[in-house]
Amino acid sequence: MSEQTLSHSTHDAQEDARNRDIKIFLNGKIVPRSEAMVSVYDSGFMLGDGMWEGLRLYNGTWAFFDEHMDRFFNSCKAVSIDVGMTKDEVLQALNDTAKANGITTDAHCRFMVTRGPKDKPFQHPGLSRSGPTVVAIVEHSKPVDSLTSRGIRLATVPQVRGLPMSQDAKYNSHSKLNCVIACLQAEQAGADEALMLDPHGFVNTTNACNFFIVRRGEVWTSTGDYCMNGVTRQKVIDLCRANDIPVFEKNYSLYEAYGADEAFLTGTFGAQTPVASIDGKKIGEHDGAGPMTRRLRELYKELVQRSTLKVAS
Ligand SMILES: Cc1ncc(COP(=O)(O)O)c(C=O)c1O
Repeated sequence: MSEQTLSHSTHDAQEDARNRDIKIFLNGKIVPRSEAMVSVYDSGFMLGDGMWEGLRLYNGTWAFFDEHMDRFFNSCKAVSIDVGMTKDEVLQALNDTAKANGITTDAHCRFMVTRGPKDKPFQHPGLSRSGPTVVAIVEHSKPVDSLTSRGIRLATVPQVRGLPMSQDAKYNSHSKLNCVIACLQAEQAGADEALMLDPHGFVNTTNACNFFIVRRGEVWTSTGDYCMNGVTRQKVIDLCRANDIPVFEKNYSLYEAYGADEAFLTGTFGAQTPVASIDGKKIGEHDGAGPMTRRLRELYKELVQRSTLKVAS
């Protein structure tokens, strides 16, 4: 297979053997990975009934911790999951887990809370009677270089991110079946990941990241009504505004996406990942990131440095 046809995904991290033996936070204890088990009765396993956040550690500080916690606690409140911890206690748990693993930077955390074990293997949330299951996995993590040098190949898929009254796209829920189906459809179409439309047919988001295009010096993204309220998405919008880069949250169609000068994805893991093609059509004239994507990547990197070093000092 040539370099260009090798598939990769937005969350490809460099292999790091240390992750095989990491320690994991599980319900107040820090245990070896091999002992970090939850019950088959857990509501997260049985139903995908839980919420999670992906956070990154730089310079000993969890980047944009408050923003992640605002989203997380809002989601848990909306589905009546009692986290049983304050925001400060979550911070302590993440810091303790990083410390137990000797990690101070370039780490990725998946923090997960489910409604907890159920008394019986049925759906009713009231069957989770013994409190939540709380897990923090903190791994050594660096995105692979090919994400920026080659970009991601997207395919538009039939699966959409739907209306808020079915399952609001703003929930970072354990159940990601909607997104998993989209990703499978994209893979089956020969692409790396899925470009998902909204219920009206406008370009919306990808299965795991938010989506932006660059057209004639302007940065466009969807209205935000049908996608994850991504922390990185908001940072990119704010950076554009602070740096006089015209930015618009608006409806647009595949017509404009195919004809874009650049396209990129945003997410906590990969920051800004260039898009190489959509439905087999090359985006812009660049291999990897174009000038606007590169500029935003630099501005974002500086922001992460500034905000993590400020908290750490
Ligand atoms: C579907 C989806 N879109 C976008 C994102 C990116 O959000 P953030 O920038 O907060 O990592 C995520 C991350 O969890 C996601 O699951």
